[in-house]
Amino acid sequence: MSLASDPKQLWDDSFEEAIALEAYNTAPVEALVRTVSYYFRGRYTPEALRDLHFLEMGCGAAPNLVWLARKGVRVSGIDISPKALALGRANLAHHCVGERVGDLVEGSVAEAPFPDASFDGIIEACVFQHLDRQTRLKTFAEVRRLLKPGGIFVGYMLERGHTIFQRKQAEQLPEDPGSLLLEDGSSKIHLSNIGLAHFFSAEELHELLTGFSVVDPCLTTYYLPREEAAKRGYDEYLQSMWTVHAVK
Ligand SMILES: C[S@@+](CC[C@H](N)C(=O)[O-])C[C@H]1O[C@@H](n2cnc3c(N)ncnc32)[C@H](O)[C@@H]1O
Repeated sequence: MSLASDPKQLWDDSFEEAIALEAYNTAPVEALVRTVSYYFRGRYTPEALRDLHFLEMGCGAAPNLVWLARKGVRVSGIDISPKALALGRANLAHHCVGERVGDLVEGSVAEAPFPDASFDGIIEACVFQHLDRQTRLKTFAEVRRLLKPGGIFVGYMLERGHTIFQRKQAEQLPEDPGSLLLEDGSSKIHLSNIGLAHFFSAEELHELLTGFSVVDPCLTTYYLPREEAAKRGYDEYLQSMWTVHAVK
């Protein structure tokens, strides 16, 4: 089954497997923390952060929302997987930040049920990279619709220097260049078996965010430890990602 055909089932299965192994992500994504922290610094006092409302698209178990809520920011999230959302709700409650939580809704990032210009910021990590072309276009249109003028978008997504893209680029989907179908029959948790994976180019990100006053895709790369690379069948595994900083 590819992500394009039934993303809700695939992500629910993936979370079920991760819950059984206690292997779902509970750490805020470093690139988001760094980029959002730079943005806040010198712009907002701790008190002023309480007036901001941020949305995470594809919030999963909500580690990024916990980080934001602990800074005082009001947070909302949307995710297609009920299992992920249940973890997210429990995680936010566990950190006693319930009072900073707005809406946590089940649904697709391509049709987020919020009014226009609802948010001061939108974040996403490793979600937009799994959308098929049509859903990807609709989702970036949603980012534009949901942000207030001057609002910030920070995203973290696959880039084409990634080891997997470098090895498999001959298998790109003809109808969606940059996309691969990755199904090696092993765990659903790793990128190698998550189904559709899209590797963005800088040009494409500028196009998807046309009309934004700032569009700054910054490259973030690191090598996995050799033991981790070996588990995935590689001698060397470069994680090459965009950290996209954009202002509407
Ligand atoms: C790799 S996880 C990342 C979770 C979280 N952003 C984090 O940093 O821990 C991807 C998440 O996106 C969600 N997701 C995937 N496709 C989605 C869609 N079309 N609409 C909403 N959520 C989606 C999945 O259910 C999953 O929780």
